[in-house]
Amino acid sequence: MSVADEIKARLNIVDYVQQFAQLKRAGKTYKACCPFHNERTPSFVVNPDTQSWRCFGACAEGGDVISFAMKRHGWSFSEALAELGKLTGVEVRRQTPEQKAEQDQHEVLRGLLQSAADAYHEGLIGAMGRDVLAYATGKRGLTAATISQFKIGYALPGWTHLLDYLTQLGYTPDQAVESGMAIRNDEGRVYDRFRNRLMIPIRDERGRVIGFGARALAAEDNPKYLNSPQTPLFDKSKTLFGFDMAKSAIRDSETAVIVEGYMDAIQAHQAGFANVVAQMGTAMTDTQIRTLTRTAKRIVLALDADAAGQNATRRSLETARAALQADFGGRLGVDIRILSIPGAKDPDDLIRETPDQWAALVAGAQPVADWLIAMEMAELPPNASIQEREAVARRVLPLLTVSEDNLYQRDNLQKLSLRLKLPERELLDWAAEQTRIEKARQPRPAPPRPAAPTFHDGEPPPLDLSTLTPPEPDENGGAVVELPAPRRSAVPFPELEQQCLRILLRQPTTLYAVNRTLRALAENDRLLLDGPLTDLCLEDFSHSDLRAIMQVFLDAIQQVDAEPLDYLRQQIDPSLQPHLDAILTDDALVVYNRVRGMMSADLRFVWQNNQRVLMSVDGSAELVEKALYLRGNRLKREREILSLMQVDAAAGQDDNANVFYTQQIILSKTAKQRIDAELGRLGTVQRE
Ligand code: UTP
Ligand code: MN
Repeated sequence: MSVADEIKARLNIVDYVQQFAQLKRAGKTYKACCPFHNERTPSFVVNPDTQSWRCFGACAEGGDVISFAMKRHGWSFSEALAELGKLTGVEVRRQTPEQKAEQDQHEVLRGLLQSAADAYHEGLIGAMGRDVLAYATGKRGLTAATISQFKIGYALPGWTHLLDYLTQLGYTPDQAVESGMAIRNDEGRVYDRFRNRLMIPIRDERGRVIGFGARALAAEDNPKYLNSPQTPLFDKSKTLFGFDMAKSAIRDSETAVIVEGYMDAIQAHQAGFANVVAQMGTAMTDTQIRTLTRTAKRIVLALDADAAGQNATRRSLETARAALQADFGGRLGVDIRILSIPGAKDPDDLIRETPDQWAALVAGAQPVADWLIAMEMAELPPNASIQEREAVARRVLPLLTVSEDNLYQRDNLQKLSLRLKLPERELLDWAAEQTRIEKARQPRPAPPRPAAPTFHDGEPPPLDLSTLTPPEPDENGGAVVELPAPRRSAVPFPELEQQCLRILLRQPTTLYAVNRTLRALAENDRLLLDGPLTDLCLEDFSHSDLRAIMQVFLDAIQQVDAEPLDYLRQQIDPSLQPHLDAILTDDALVVYNRVRGMMSADLRFVWQNNQRVLMSVDGSAELVEKALYLRGNRLKREREILSLMQVDAAAGQDDNANVFYTQQIILSKTAKQRIDAELGRLGTVQRE
């Protein structure tokens, strides 16, 4: 039994969710107003039989107790396992000795950094820190509460204050160096990295100190900010300063604001704007964006208005564009806005002077397109030539066309056309050209191989979709629904889900074939595109381990640093590694074992040698079919609950809710009909 299954066996989803939502019994399920978004009509359902939850409202999301905890607390899968493991007494880590050693090392470094933060903080509020404290509270305008909330500190002048202290506590000089707090010079002498600086602890998502940003206090000290170097705990590109304290405000407001500096973020928090994080002097990275989009629907970039700031903003947008391309068609999953601060101020100054203006600026932040167009136009002379205007269009178009959805794009094109006085038609042509170029840059599915041998395993289609009848209301106004049997803990992987993942993992680009098919079926209907015919996603998988693997897979194909499979192997939670291996290896063996008896020795030899080649046959067609079944299953699962909710709304004479659920059911049925028709068509094609 996997760790996730063990946790789920011990933790009843109703008990857990109860803490965060006012669950009321409704037939066999419970419902409540969704704890993840604001609503008056309950559209959040917990089903004790399947141990699942689902929001049929704005979130349109659901899952098991683990995904609920992840969403509620902004945890990653492994964090959720760790926390729920603690809660339920399930031992989460089954580590290899190397992993254990690494974990132990991290624990030591964490303890060391926490001690350093404590020592610095005492340095600031102690007698030696008087002047620096005056600077922090005076010139920098920090309150005592903020100083203690962020545990701001002071590193005394001198070469070995911290080192001596750490040694007293039993840490070795090596550990001090490894943590980034000390430096060893060429002669082997070890000394404090941070001297005479205001110390700002940098924390990870869970609030544990992983490094420091240190501001110079003397004018002659360079650089102004000295940061911890990269260490086993600290990677600047993967960290957002303040995220641990901003997480819940980001979730509540669905908005994350990114500023440039530590002080900007601290000042914002102090003024009550808790959804602000800082990116520590680099352009935004892929990891940072993906961290934020786990909970934020809108990201506001509040970067400096100077040229450097504008360039950083552009680079951040480029990264965002790459990271957020939901697929090669490019659909932005998050709304990005640009906040320009008037004058030469940074957020720190502005918030201190006029905090009210900050809220207004955040609310009025510009859409990416408006910002880009305005910025480019500002640089264009009033009587710019056609060539100059064309050059602007070609610079702006890629960011517009790839990062916004179609509707919005058309609006932007109009704007651009008006401002640049260029015909929209021409802009569209360039945009199309641009998209072709983008596409050409991206990896494609392997070309189909003619007459590739296939191995039929003779199994019937994995699931019969026609066995469940739609629910009928009974005379009490309740619903008679045959709900699936209660899920037992050691659920084997649903075969179909596992098969889909296997194809995806082997040939990541097959995902796009599935998404193309789903979109084609939606025929441009937004409600279907955003609802029952949305891209293949976590929701299509019912088993939590498979969902977790799917999540890492989706991350993997959105990053560019590593081959998706390598990325997956690196990022996957150790407890899922065996599942991953099983998914990846056993099909070749299964097929081999099945056909072996029927093969001559020669053929067997050829088979063994060509296994790799055979397995690289393009799996798109196979995946499309399987994924459509998967989606059909999901829609059916969901419709049972929707019907239940509808009946309930009708009984309670809640007209709004009734209309809402009726619409959802119609949408779901439409989607299902189209899927079935497509499956029918595919079946015919194959038989021909
Ligand atoms: P700024 O120079 O804009 O800092 O750098 P600031 O926040 O306005 O600084 P104050 O108000 O003078 O104290 C913004 C961010 O860039 C990084 C830091 O993360 C800083 O918060 N930075 C800046 C460095 O890492 N090193 C530097 O030398 C300067
Ligand atoms: Mn500043």
